[in-house]
Amino acid sequence: MATPVNVGMIGYGFMGRAHTNGYKRCPDFFPELRHQPVLKAACARSEDKIQAFADQWGYESIETDWRKLIARDDIDAIDICVPNNLHKEIAIACAEAGKMILCEKPLAMNVAEGEEMCKAVEKAKVPHTVWYNYRRVPAVTLAKQIIESGALGRIFHYRANFLQDWTISEDLPQGGQALWRLDAEAAGSGVTGDLLAHCIDTAIWLNGTVSDVSAMTETFIKERVHQATGEKTKVTIDDACAFMCHFSNGSLGLFESTRYARGHKALYTLEINGSEMSLRWDLEDLHRLEVFDHKDEGALRGWKSVHVSDHGGEHPYMDKWWVPGLQIGYEHSFVHHVADFMKSLDEGKPCGPTFRDALETQKVCDAVLTSAKERSWENV
Ligand SMILES: NC(=O)c1ccc[n+]([C@@H]2O[C@H](COP(=O)([O-])OP(=O)(O)OC[C@H]3O[C@@H](n4cnc5c(N)ncnc54)[C@H](O)[C@@H]3O)[C@@H](O)[C@H]2O)c1
Repeated sequence: MATPVNVGMIGYGFMGRAHTNGYKRCPDFFPELRHQPVLKAACARSEDKIQAFADQWGYESIETDWRKLIARDDIDAIDICVPNNLHKEIAIACAEAGKMILCEKPLAMNVAEGEEMCKAVEKAKVPHTVWYNYRRVPAVTLAKQIIESGALGRIFHYRANFLQDWTISEDLPQGGQALWRLDAEAAGSGVTGDLLAHCIDTAIWLNGTVSDVSAMTETFIKERVHQATGEKTKVTIDDACAFMCHFSNGSLGLFESTRYARGHKALYTLEINGSEMSLRWDLEDLHRLEVFDHKDEGALRGWKSVHVSDHGGEHPYMDKWWVPGLQIGYEHSFVHHVADFMKSLDEGKPCGPTFRDALETQKVCDAVLTSAKERSWENV
């Protein structure tokens, strides 16, 4: 019998569902783990809505106040799937209550909040992680393994984009249910914390820390109706952000994110160029890793598209799923994150990205926003 890890889920939106699916799949596909999640309680402010969510997804009980959830003796781990302005308060309360924490990204509204959160979990010594889930897409994990082997040689360039188009209409309101991302009071920032944070986390994981940045941001639509008041108010988020940076390893970085790239829904792409090899990945084709190997010789040298779907068990995570050649999808990155968290409990090791790792991304985001505001280069 595995040791149960009783999960208390806060939030039932997009991530509440994605993570719950992860908890549900973990025991079936990772049965060897000695810790396994149990859907103990779900929490949100609306009793009707959270009861419906709990019934649909199989949570044993509900709460309408996250403080009561944290106070429960039968809860071991709290999953924070609420807007960014609530992460700090909930995470610190969890640490003080000795609960494990699985916190959504970005870690916090800013670096100062993130520092407090790091101190709280480190003082309490509670297991914790931040859901930068793209690290656990097998093709991205494979890229990490290839880079760590040294096969790329000297790294010259890293570039990443995260492009969407869902806020182009001026009629779209801001703030409140489902649209909190457009309100800096709830989100902290716009595309920088929401989308670029993913690109930055992956970049730091693959290519090391960023030393300085130079950024520009734009808010294309200056006023929107706020859902809470019905009044037209100033838009406070960055709609688009582009920045260049130096990595500590001497390579150059180029990043762009927007919600105004007509036709793109969630185009997250990354590319890394080394002296010996280049790698490229695209979220819309997430099971493929494109590789150019300078060692290949002759007329057929070129980019190859590796279908990351086993190859004799060499592809990360893929031995857990179907047969070679059958790919998996977006939701599996969350299943893998849950499984890795449970494994970290088995082994008594941290599960990356830790709060401290995620703080590094927060530092880059803050430097990017300051740089755009001041029109300056900012050290991270
Ligand atoms: N890892 C990823 O790829 C990814 C993707 C999307 C969102 N996120 C992050 O996940 C978090 C949630 O985003 P989402 O897309 O799920 O948002 P969402 O709007 O779909 O859901 C937010 C949930 O929070 C609940 N909530 C709000 N205030 C609350 C309170 N005081 N007490 C209890 N519940 C409360 C709402 O009822 C809702 O269920 C954010 O931090 C976001 O940045 C991460």
